[in-house]
Amino acid sequence: MDSEVVHVPAEWRAQHPHGAHLTGMLEYRALYEESIRSPNTFWAKQARELLSFSHGFHTTHIGSLAKGNNAWFLGGELNASFCCVDRHAIADPDRVAIIHEPDDSCDASREITYGDLLGHVSRLAGCLRAQGVQKGDIVTIYMPMIPEAIFAMLACARIGAVHSVVFAGFSADALRDRIQDANSKVVITTDEGRRGGKAIPTKAVVDTAVRDCPCVSTVLTFKHTGGDVSWTAGRDMWCDEELKKYPSYISSEPMHSEDYLFLLYTSGSTGKPKGVLHSTAGYLLGAAMTGKYVFDIHPKDRFFCSGDIGWITGHTYTVYAPLVLGCTTVIFEGTPAYPSFTRYWEVISKHAATHFYTAPTALRLLKSKIKKRDVEEFNMSQLRVLGSVGEPIAPDTWKWFYNSMGDQKMTLTDTYWQTETGSHIVASLAGVTPMKPGCASLPCFGIDLAIIDPVSGEELKGNLVVGVLAIKQPWPSMARTIKGNHDRYMDTYFNVYKGYYFTGDGAYRDQDGYIWIRGRVDDVVNVSGHRISTSEIESSLLEHAETAIIGVPDELTGEAINAVVSLKTPVIPLGIEQELILHIRQSIAPFAAPKKVFIVKDLPKTRSGKIVRRILRKLLTGEKEFGDISTVRCSSPKNEKCQPLILRL
Ligand code: WT7
Repeated sequence: MDSEVVHVPAEWRAQHPHGAHLTGMLEYRALYEESIRSPNTFWAKQARELLSFSHGFHTTHIGSLAKGNNAWFLGGELNASFCCVDRHAIADPDRVAIIHEPDDSCDASREITYGDLLGHVSRLAGCLRAQGVQKGDIVTIYMPMIPEAIFAMLACARIGAVHSVVFAGFSADALRDRIQDANSKVVITTDEGRRGGKAIPTKAVVDTAVRDCPCVSTVLTFKHTGGDVSWTAGRDMWCDEELKKYPSYISSEPMHSEDYLFLLYTSGSTGKPKGVLHSTAGYLLGAAMTGKYVFDIHPKDRFFCSGDIGWITGHTYTVYAPLVLGCTTVIFEGTPAYPSFTRYWEVISKHAATHFYTAPTALRLLKSKIKKRDVEEFNMSQLRVLGSVGEPIAPDTWKWFYNSMGDQKMTLTDTYWQTETGSHIVASLAGVTPMKPGCASLPCFGIDLAIIDPVSGEELKGNLVVGVLAIKQPWPSMARTIKGNHDRYMDTYFNVYKGYYFTGDGAYRDQDGYIWIRGRVDDVVNVSGHRISTSEIESSLLEHAETAIIGVPDELTGEAINAVVSLKTPVIPLGIEQELILHIRQSIAPFAAPKKVFIVKDLPKTRSGKIVRRILRKLLTGEKEFGDISTVRCSSPKNEKCQPLILRL
């Protein structure tokens, strides 16, 4: 294990334009101790400091992990859109809330002040209300990375509707399933999006998806590229015209702390994607507090998170953390590779970003393409904090990021968390924690970690232990339930190890108490930071074939999906591999498509009929040691078109 320690450079603190929020490790340790020893006092103080309640809470917390019934800030009333917009618009209406950088560097970027944001959000909120959206209704948003997507999220929050953002890379089938599950009356989209020079037909995907969604009565479309779209009279409305009807201020609806703010679908280890529901006060506090302490955000900062709003990273760190803290969020519609691999440097220097938060998959790509001289011309002098998220970052990628973009002058935080945790749970604090390349580091405030022996189920105390990662004390930003399936919520997170929240990741605690994340221990594959369950892909092919989906290490995407397929037909049709790949792209999303497909006659199974993935994984990664295979049945393929994969058994 690489345990080299990189200390925060002294000049970082000396040159800090506003003075860092925390003085150093002593303060972190003292605050952390307090957060674990007296969580209610700690969280109540943080909530009062960072959020604005229109009615104060009387009880900080009730419930337990064992029962999975946690609720926070009871009796409190607040509104997320008020916390993210109004209070900053009142204090400083000209401060820039959102900077939008388009896909194409030749197109103009846009700036939206907090004062203007209040108008945009209010008008859209008024429009949603006029379409019959009521408190508690779920509105689906299928949009590219443009300011209007943030207006849409905050407009929902303003009237107490729950937003469900679906990543605009998901297929029409996947979108349809999510709209149906959410029973949305209204879907908000654009004519098109733009990524890497290509048009993304968002409206056309929505059209196909809502064909099978009788619940949808209105599709609101923002004009973005001006591309042609088809139109269904009576259902479709152009936002741009519609919004003129509504005033630029409507008051925000007071919401109970525990009212849901949003629904976000994520892959589980089994079955269909699960709709994770987050609360208003607890979630917002997690975003605000980690924004403040992990990233050291200040109101004059310009925070650039490359995470799409279709994922939790985009929710928490592109939208809610920067806006609740009143700084500027820089949103980027394009990709790191278009029109050239220096695009991130361009965005950072052009908008004087102070923070840059991205994923190892992008860094691996850039590391292979960028030479130091390519990026020397860019002025990165405002940049103070770098961040990584989504998968373990290899030490060499960490060092490359730190040296090439950070010029060894910055602080780099590796942040470990999940859709379900709402905000960071293990991370090095910017400018505070001595960094270890490749290591997520130390628990965030209020997060009481445990490493559990997966065999005995016992907690492994002390350092130098390896096992599965769990949390033994509730925290405000944890997801409250899975929509329509609270039993699945209990079984996935709380019934695995009683009294603990189970993360699904393996972890190692080193000699200094630092946490190294070792990846998923369940059937979840992480492709370019996108989480996808093997069974979700397998079941999408069920009609055609019996499939085992295996995640194998990949230089660029972290893990890549390989499919080992046994067809239900005696003849193997020509080009079947491409057909299966296309089917997955269409029924789920392009990122879920296998990189390789192996057609075999039979899959190796136990006598009870379970596919032995362990063997397939070893075959695919070229490992020779199979372990005990005495209970495995598998016949060799007779058809010569079969890959030799299983023959080697
Ligand atoms: C899974 C959660 C949370 C933001 C993006 C992904 C993996 C996430 C790290 C990290 C090692 C990481 C875990 C986790 N993961 N961040 N810094 N180091 N692994 O959210 O889609 O809910 O996926 O991503 O395996 O369980 P998500």
